[in-house]
Amino acid sequence: MNHFEYGPEGLACEGVPLAKIAAEVGTPVYVYSRATLERHFTVFRDALVAAGVVDPLVAYAVKANSNVAVLKVLGDLGAGADTVSEGEVRRALAAGIPPERIVFSGVGKARREIEFALKTGVAEINVESEPEMNLIAQVAAELGVRAKIAFRVNPDVAAGGHAKIATGKSENKFGVSFAEAARLYANASNNAALEPIGVACHIGSQITDLSPMREAFSKMRGLVEQLLGEGLSVERLDLGGGLGVPYFNNPEPPSPADFAAMVGEVTKGLPVKLAFEPGRVIAANAGVMVSEVIHVHERPEGRKFLVIDAAMNDLVRPAMYDAFHDIRPVVKRAGEATYDVVGPVCETGDTFTRDRALPPFAAGDLVAFMSAGAYGSAMASEYNTRPLVPEVLVDGDKYAVIRKRPTYEEMLARDLVPDWV
Ligand code: LLP
Repeated sequence: MNHFEYGPEGLACEGVPLAKIAAEVGTPVYVYSRATLERHFTVFRDALVAAGVVDPLVAYAVKANSNVAVLKVLGDLGAGADTVSEGEVRRALAAGIPPERIVFSGVGKARREIEFALKTGVAEINVESEPEMNLIAQVAAELGVRAKIAFRVNPDVAAGGHAKIATGKSENKFGVSFAEAARLYANASNNAALEPIGVACHIGSQITDLSPMREAFSKMRGLVEQLLGEGLSVERLDLGGGLGVPYFNNPEPPSPADFAAMVGEVTKGLPVKLAFEPGRVIAANAGVMVSEVIHVHERPEGRKFLVIDAAMNDLVRPAMYDAFHDIRPVVKRAGEATYDVVGPVCETGDTFTRDRALPPFAAGDLVAFMSAGAYGSAMASEYNTRPLVPEVLVDGDKYAVIRKRPTYEEMLARDLVPDWV
């Protein structure tokens, strides 16, 4: 469920018409519903608790939507943060999420980032390889602290909505094998600078079938039991993110309740705390991107291009993953026309969809890209020197700009021309 519905003034986010926001903030613009963010987080966590998972750590994957206001909404409900860079750790801290709820993941953490994470005292650093473990041990020894680490295991299971976002096969760059994990865990336990607290996995994103997750989680359970059997201390099993969401063109994904029931079954009786890193399932359907039609360009042979003021730099998912986003008129129109929806960027890849049946549009109309709250603005850029797309948060009848559109002066001021040029 989400809070984007048609009212007397067209499509609205909670109590605020999108047309009102577009008029005041300009387009393109991302609009998020606080009620939807809160609902998604609560449904996810409550489903786990109902399935018998005791006190789960739900560490929201900051990469999906990293606006500090969004993080604060979730953090205030008890969310932790799954982070993959110093910048994301800083965002989580700025949102008031305590270090005890911050997980630091990522394939290539730089020395300075490890140092920052250790000084901050994050709850868990997910180790992705042996050289990384050694680097963490070295930095921790220098700082005189014991690094709490979890080993990210690559369970060699295929899953995920697109090859570019599948992470769980051994040919992918992520994590260590089960054999390596067992060996490294034992080594780390004997290293004064390291405190291994658990194991982690994340097999991919936009997963719409629970069976690969069940397979991966069962293997992870086996690993935890093996480590415990060897007398090692294991406090935590981090099962990652990846649960898919409906994008309106694909089979209904499993619900959080189905997911939680599966987790409950697979982990029953395991004496460890469970952690999760959901991103998309919390944020995707809590946001839309609103754009204005610049013009309709009809070719003599009949193809109609809907040229809008948003482009691939604002929402890259269609260009990058051939992703489908439902496109709705902000004001409903009768009739139908077939369009290629394109942006102003000078690349054929700047195409949101081809041959899509939509209501008939005219210049000045507003369109909403649905399910854009995750991996939308977080992946936006200023390509073609287009100002970074702003973000708005709605709460009932009120709204606020939570990231403003930069001015051209601000953008140009970042470039420095040396006096020898
Ligand atoms: N944990 C780790 C270690 C991850 O790498 C990711 C996502 C997540 C959690 C959150 O996964 P989620 O619950 O959101 O599926 N940009 C792509 C998605 C990339 C996902 C990368 N990792 C897209 O727009 O589809």
